[in-house]
Amino acid sequence: MTTRLRTTTRERARAALERARRRTLALTDCLDDAGLTAQHSPLMSPLVWDLAHIGNQEDIWLLRAAGGGPGLRPDLDHLYDAFQHPRADRPALPLLGPDAARRYVAEVRERALALLAAADLDGGDPLTAGAFVFGMIAQHEQQHDETMLATHQLRRGAPVLTAPEPPAAPGDSLPAEVLVPGGPFTMGTSTDAWALDNERPAHAVHVPAFHLDTVPVTNAAYQGFIADGGYDDPRWWHPDGWEHVRDKGLRAPLFWRQEDSRWLRRRFGHTEPVPDHEPVVHVSWYEADAYARWAGRRLPTEAEWEKAARHDPSTGRSLTYPWGEDEPTPEHANLGQRHLRPAPVGAYPRGAAPSGARQLIGDVWEWTASDFTGYPGYRSFPYPEYSEVFFGSDHKVLRGGSFGADQVAVRGTFRNWDYPVRRQIFAGFRTARDAEHADGGERRAA
Ligand code: AVJ
Ligand code: FE
Repeated sequence: MTTRLRTTTRERARAALERARRRTLALTDCLDDAGLTAQHSPLMSPLVWDLAHIGNQEDIWLLRAAGGGPGLRPDLDHLYDAFQHPRADRPALPLLGPDAARRYVAEVRERALALLAAADLDGGDPLTAGAFVFGMIAQHEQQHDETMLATHQLRRGAPVLTAPEPPAAPGDSLPAEVLVPGGPFTMGTSTDAWALDNERPAHAVHVPAFHLDTVPVTNAAYQGFIADGGYDDPRWWHPDGWEHVRDKGLRAPLFWRQEDSRWLRRRFGHTEPVPDHEPVVHVSWYEADAYARWAGRRLPTEAEWEKAARHDPSTGRSLTYPWGEDEPTPEHANLGQRHLRPAPVGAYPRGAAPSGARQLIGDVWEWTASDFTGYPGYRSFPYPEYSEVFFGSDHKVLRGGSFGADQVAVRGTFRNWDYPVRRQIFAGFRTARDAEHADGGERRAA
């Protein structure tokens, strides 16, 4: 028998921080100084802002809050405070230049790793218990790496990023939808050490039986909506969505254009035909909502999505990932910018949930019907500006994670949110409908 090396919490935190930093540098070292300081879209920060902001959050939370020291550059906090300066204003700030930003993040990291090596991870301080704050900062960096990837997608000019193609779908025949039986399930978590405040606490939710698309809605299906005049028919649209698409003249997902009768898309500097069998990406919540209504269906609620992804009817428990407790591998899901596009629908059979649904984790973020709110018993930790200030009806919840999300910031309980007009994020969706007998799945032979 071989000895299996146990990865300690400390090693796991160090590996997560180092993986995030390799990605941050890959996303920034591929451009010259002009490319890093330019604003490629008014929707996004210059990449050099994200870079130093990553270091500044680490300065605040690891060197100061966890380490108890004075930190490296408290004088920079105001420049890199996302609440003080909207994205469109950031290029005009006296930001650190690319080399100074690189030196700043490297020096913060050196000190942070020294702190991690010596930190008491089993003590009573909830910030460091289980290495929470180190995991939080690794997740923060990866979230900004995904944002930087979205900036790369908006950027004009020659391609600078490369990656292998995602795996093909195995071609087994899948039902169009799965049935998730009615009854209670455990939503959220109270035990996952690196879960963020908005995922807590675990609580029982009764979810009536419903049907969910086995896979995300494809480009081909979405083209059916376009071809049927979907963008011209107010019946399908939320009133605010209708006003928005009329006002902006939207006719298709972001990055699509029609040439003759063919749809093309721009993807990280390449123009290519829109692939039929890939999940549609770069659609707003309003577009997802309208498509679902056109299809005679609806978006799943957040609770439905999580039940389809986590509920294991054989044990009554909620899993960490659709496939169980194992950390994601390249066989489970399309994550971490390993590929620069979603995989075709039906891929990743090993990532299937007990419900039979595939690709719930990875490929594209999935819009849900739900507003972003706190769970019963929610308490902000360690600061209200991560989640709480965004609670309310302005933001819709997205679940599952995209090809641009890293595994450290993706799990069955993870919640993302954005404005319903947002399209530059790597977001798609799947649709749902009520089951004929809402309690049908619960009724068993007694
Ligand atoms: C959770 C992805 C909506 O990017 O605005 C980054 C994550 N919070 N820095 C965002 C975040 C603070 C957040 N999202
Ligand atoms: Fe941030």
